[in-house]
Amino acid sequence: MPSPSSSFTIRQASSRDVGYVSDILTESFYRSTDRQVNFLQRCFTDLVYPILRYGIMLDLSGRFGDKTPCYACLVATHPANKFQAIASLEICMRYVPVKPYREFWLGREMQQYPYVFNLAVHPQWRRRGVAKQLLLAAEQTVKQWGFSRLYMHVLEDNHPARHLYDRIGYRQHSQEGIVNYWLMGRPKKLLLQKKF
Ligand SMILES: CC(C)(COP(=O)(O)OP(=O)(O)OC[C@H]1O[C@@H](n2cnc3c(N)ncnc32)[C@H](O)[C@@H]1OP(=O)(O)O)[C@@H](O)C(=O)NCCC(=O)NCCS
Repeated sequence: MPSPSSSFTIRQASSRDVGYVSDILTESFYRSTDRQVNFLQRCFTDLVYPILRYGIMLDLSGRFGDKTPCYACLVATHPANKFQAIASLEICMRYVPVKPYREFWLGREMQQYPYVFNLAVHPQWRRRGVAKQLLLAAEQTVKQWGFSRLYMHVLEDNHPARHLYDRIGYRQHSQEGIVNYWLMGRPKKLLLQKKF
C-alpha cells in the first residue's frame, strides 16, 4: 500500500548510501521499462548492468570523497528501512548561460549556479511525491549556500520529468543539442531554471 509522501525522510547522503544510490541510478537510467525491448536487448542489459553499476559507484565515491564546496547528494528514505535510499539527487555548481541563447552564438556570457543532476526515484517508489520532496529540499540546500535559483537539464522526450519540473515551477531557459537532433534524431536538451 503506498505510503503518504509526508512519511519520507530527506537527508544528506553519506558513503554508506553509495550502493543504494548506484542501484537507483543504474535502474533508472540504464534499464528500460519499455515492454518492446526484446530478449537480446534485455540479456545485454543484464550482462552490462554490474559494470555500469560499478562505474557509477566509483564516480559517486569520488564525488563524496572530494569535499568540494557546494556539492550535495540528497537521498530519500522510508521509515520501513531508514538505511535504504529509495531516491536521490545531486547538486553541484555549474556554468550556465546568463541569458537564453541560440546554439550557434559565440561568446555567450556564462556564470556558475547550483545545478541539479542525477535525480532518480527507484521504479517501485514512483508517483508518491518523492521527487517533488527531494527537489524542494534541494531548494532549501542552495538557499543555505546563498543562492536563489537552480538549474537542470532534461531531455525533450522525458515527459514524466518535464511534467514534474513544470509542476514545481521550473521554466525553460535554453535549448541545446540541436545539431544532434538534426543529424542523428537525438532528443534536444532543455536547460531549465527556477528562481525562488
Ligand atoms: C521523473 C521521476 C524523477 C519522477 O519521480 P516521482 O517520485 O515519481 O515524481 P513525483 O511522485 O514527485 O511526481 C510529482 C508530479 O510530477 C508529475 N509526474 C511524475 N511522474 C510522472 C509521469 N510518469 N507521468 C506524468 N506526470 C508525472 C505529476 O504531475 C506528479 O504529480 P501527481 O502524481 O500528483 O500527478 C522518476 O520518474 C524517475 O526517476 N525517472 C527516471 C529518471 C529520470 O528521468 N530522471 C530525471 C532526469 S532529468
